[in-house]
Amino acid sequence: GRTAVVLVAAGSGTRLGRAMPKAAVPVAGVPMLERAIASVAAALPEAQIVAVLPAGHASLWQLCASIAAAPHDDGAPRPHLVAVAGGATRNDSVRAGLAAIGDAVHVLVHDAARCLTPPEVFAAVADALAAGARAVVPALPVVDTIKAVRAAPDASIAAEAVASTPPRSGLRAVQTPQGFRRDVLVAAQRQVAAWPAARAETVTDDALLMEMLGEDVYLVPGDERALKITTELDLMLAEALIAAGEE
Ligand code: CTP
Ligand code: MG
Repeated sequence: GRTAVVLVAAGSGTRLGRAMPKAAVPVAGVPMLERAIASVAAALPEAQIVAVLPAGHASLWQLCASIAAAPHDDGAPRPHLVAVAGGATRNDSVRAGLAAIGDAVHVLVHDAARCLTPPEVFAAVADALAAGARAVVPALPVVDTIKAVRAAPDASIAAEAVASTPPRSGLRAVQTPQGFRRDVLVAAQRQVAAWPAARAETVTDDALLMEMLGEDVYLVPGDERALKITTELDLMLAEALIAAGEE
C-alpha cells in the first residue's frame, strides 16, 4: 500500500492513573486501542496499520492478533495490522513503528489516545499529502489565551511570571494523525537518534522534526472529537460523545 499508519499506543497512562496502560482502558466498554484501530481502518481501509504496544501487556497483543485474524463477513477488507513493542518515550515508539512499516510512500503518525478521531480528519490529512504536501497536521484554534512564562522576578513569591502573550489569533492546537512523506520523516528521525536523551524528550509531536529540517508543515482542520484522552475528565467527555452518537 502507499500509506501506512503508525498508531502509537505504548504509553503508560500515568495521568489517567488506572492500573493498566491507557490503550487498555475501556471507553464506554471498548478498549481504547480497539476503538482507535477501528477508526483508522474505517477511514483508511487500504492502509497498513502498525500498532505500537507496551511490551509487557499481553491482553493488548492478543487484542491486535484477534483483530488481524477476525473474519470479515461484510466483504470489507480486514485491517492490515501488525504490532510491535514501543519504547520509553513517544518518539521512541514512533521510531519503532516506522521501522516496521512496509513499502509506503506516506506515513500517518496517530495517537491511540485520540480514539474517536472522525474519518474527515484522516481524509483531510491524506488529501493534502496526495496534493503534494510533505508534512500535514490537523489543527484547531486555541480557546484559551496562552502565556509564555519565566521564572519569578521576586524570589519571595512562589509563582512563575508572565514573559509574553502571543496573539491568540496566530496560535493553533495540533492533533493527530500527522501525515508525512515517509522518506522525510525517516531522515528527521535519523537526526534525532544522535541527540542526547534530554533533547530527544522535547519531541512532543512529529511535525516539530519537520520544522527542524526546514520543511513546510501544512495545517488542515482538526476536530474536537479528535481530543487526546489524557485525564479522567477527557474520558468522561469521550464517553459522553459516544453516548450522544448512539442516540
Ligand atoms: N505513547 C507511546 N509510547 C510512549 C509514550 C506515549 O506510544 N512511550 C503514545 C501513547 O500511548 C498515546 C500517545 O503516545 O497514544 C500520546 O501520549 P500520552 O497521551 O502522553 O499517553 P501516555 O504517555 O500513555 O500518558 P501519560 O503521559 O499520562 O503517562
Ligand atoms: Mg505521555
